[in-house]
Amino acid sequence: MNKALVELIRISNHTGKDPALVQGGGGNTSVKTADGKYMYIKASGTALKDMDDKRGWRRMRLDMVLDVIRDETIAGLDAQRRETEVMNRLLLACDDELNDSARPSVEAHLHAFLDTAVIHLHPNVVGAYVNAQNGKTLLERLFHQEKKPPLWVPYTDPGFMLARTISRRVQAYQAEYGCKPAILFLEKHGLFVTAPTSNAALRLVRKVIKACGNRLKNPLPHRIREADQAVIHQTKLTIRKAVFQATGQYLPIHHFQDHEIAWFMKQKDVAGMLAAGALSPDELVYANGPALWIDKVDSDRIIKRLINQREKGDKPALAFLVKNQGLFVAAKENVAQTIRDIAAGSFFIRVNARFLGGIATLSKRQRTFINEWEMESFRRALVEGVSGGDLKDRVAVVTGAGSGLGRSIALGLARAGAMVVLLDIDSIAAAETAQTIAREIPKASTIVCHCDVTSEESVTSAFEGILETFGGLDILVNAAGVAPPYPLIDLPVNKWRQALEVNLTGYFLMAKYAARIMIDQGMGGAIVNLSSKSGLEASKNNTPYNATKAGEIHMARGWALELGSHGIRVNSVCPGNVFEGSKIWNPQYIRVCAKKYGIKPEEVIPYYVSKTALNKEIKGQDIADAVIFLCSDRAQRITGQTLVSDAGQVMVR
Ligand SMILES: NC(=O)c1ccc[n+]([C@@H]2O[C@H](COP(=O)([O-])OP(=O)(O)OC[C@H]3O[C@@H](n4cnc5c(N)ncnc54)[C@H](O)[C@@H]3O)[C@@H](O)[C@H]2O)c1
Ligand SMILES: [Zn+2]
Repeated sequence: MNKALVELIRISNHTGKDPALVQGGGGNTSVKTADGKYMYIKASGTALKDMDDKRGWRRMRLDMVLDVIRDETIAGLDAQRRETEVMNRLLLACDDELNDSARPSVEAHLHAFLDTAVIHLHPNVVGAYVNAQNGKTLLERLFHQEKKPPLWVPYTDPGFMLARTISRRVQAYQAEYGCKPAILFLEKHGLFVTAPTSNAALRLVRKVIKACGNRLKNPLPHRIREADQAVIHQTKLTIRKAVFQATGQYLPIHHFQDHEIAWFMKQKDVAGMLAAGALSPDELVYANGPALWIDKVDSDRIIKRLINQREKGDKPALAFLVKNQGLFVAAKENVAQTIRDIAAGSFFIRVNARFLGGIATLSKRQRTFINEWEMESFRRALVEGVSGGDLKDRVAVVTGAGSGLGRSIALGLARAGAMVVLLDIDSIAAAETAQTIAREIPKASTIVCHCDVTSEESVTSAFEGILETFGGLDILVNAAGVAPPYPLIDLPVNKWRQALEVNLTGYFLMAKYAARIMIDQGMGGAIVNLSSKSGLEASKNNTPYNATKAGEIHMARGWALELGSHGIRVNSVCPGNVFEGSKIWNPQYIRVCAKKYGIKPEEVIPYYVSKTALNKEIKGQDIADAVIFLCSDRAQRITGQTLVSDAGQVMVR
């Protein structure tokens, strides 16, 4: 491995692992080769700490990168075309054997004309100064003893223009001091250090952090008064609805409370500090700007404020700082922690920038440029992961998800883009379903939930867990069922009672608590009862199954009437015989069926298939498709109905 690459990985991992240096978002690094021909630089989409010999970097031809900055024709283009052209040229300058398409850092051209090793970071202690109104003067004073005084770079739109500004300023600096600067402070952005060796660059970073951190106020660990769980869950539902109404997005809501957040809330004029606007490109790109201060949790007021932000050309907030409760973040799990870190960093910077003389934030024009910046949106798409589908990001609970149809439905919902709670009394089986989903859809978000649907206590605690993880609920699919196969005259009463418990009480309890959440949340919802064709047409030796499956259809109809005014739709799906993966179709059950029809056990499946109009075996995904349809917006006007998916046996009238 080239020595420059070894050095790059070392300084990247070293800085990337230090939370004082890299919180949440950005930062990048580069090291030039000894022959001056190449530059190894961090690639977009991999965190500094995760860079290794195989990923997270690109090798670029220095001459080609420098040509980009010098190219006057690029400078003449409008912003959008300019940045696209620059990225294309930077990709062309990549010269390595990596066959992945990772883009080099968007700040690559800026690294090219600095010294051998370059480290660019957005540390919070530096943020306090570069976001202070008199930051330049304060930093000059702080570093007045340096042989090479730091270079202050006034705020410039990121990308090509920033690289040009820095290159001009570095030239002027060279003319004045006879050398290139070693420390650069970028207004409302961050820090660049550059040195002849990577060790010297690391030393310089430490020195700057120490000097800047010296006088600042730090969050002191103090006791946090945790708000009541029920209150937190209610706030999550309110915020989820507001975000949905304002943006049309189904996002999970996460709650954070810790001493950094509590410390900020204790400060004077928290509302004013946040209303000052976004501090930096990072805060804007990853968190859509600062957290919204909420002193009273009222969804209509939050919706109004989010819509107001959008009308003013800003992106609606994703973070909400709620009085006495903490920080709420509307985002997928993989980005929520990043947004929390950026918000907490922003709290620290705001308190300290105000302490140093006043908070400097991005102007409207500066924000607009960033919002439209193609490369930043690309960076974010990488972090968020891309998912589509009819049920994109909806939170769905499937009971009986450990086996048979529950498993197929869970997989189908995940394929349709939903986040799925895999609920089963057999959590090992449900965990296997989670693994199956993860293998096929690595980005899918699932949780395994151990629950006995016949126990009210178990059901309520399952829903608490769901609110804890996702902060809301859109879909319930009742599928946990049993089918004790006995002729009437032999049916033990305990088997009868068990079927009533699982198939009726279980469906009822799940629906009761799901509906409560859906009503509170105010975003509508969909409930599907998985019944059976036996719920429409009785079959022999199936007393409890016939009774309960008919009961499930009728319960769904009643619930459709009760819940319609809340926009909650309730329907039933009646599968025909699905053998794939089912524990109901166990050898004993098949023997009973064989006896019923006077055939051999191995003839049972072909026999059932031959009874369908389509002469086709019904698979789990067929049932999942019916469920997905009923849960999706395509079924917006369908409620109280029964959809039979049986390859043409029972015809509903
Ligand atoms: N397979 C079919 O041919 C078929 C046809 C029509 C309808 N259905 C219906 O589909 C549903 C699933 O059937 P299957 O064949 O996949 O069954 P299955 O036995 O393979 O799966 C049922 C799952 O429910 C879970 N479960 C049982 N009791 C529970 C409880 N108290 N709490 C939580 N989980 C519990 C089990 O652990 C199991 O994982 C049932 O409602 C059934 O009536 C199945
Ligand atoms: Zn940066």
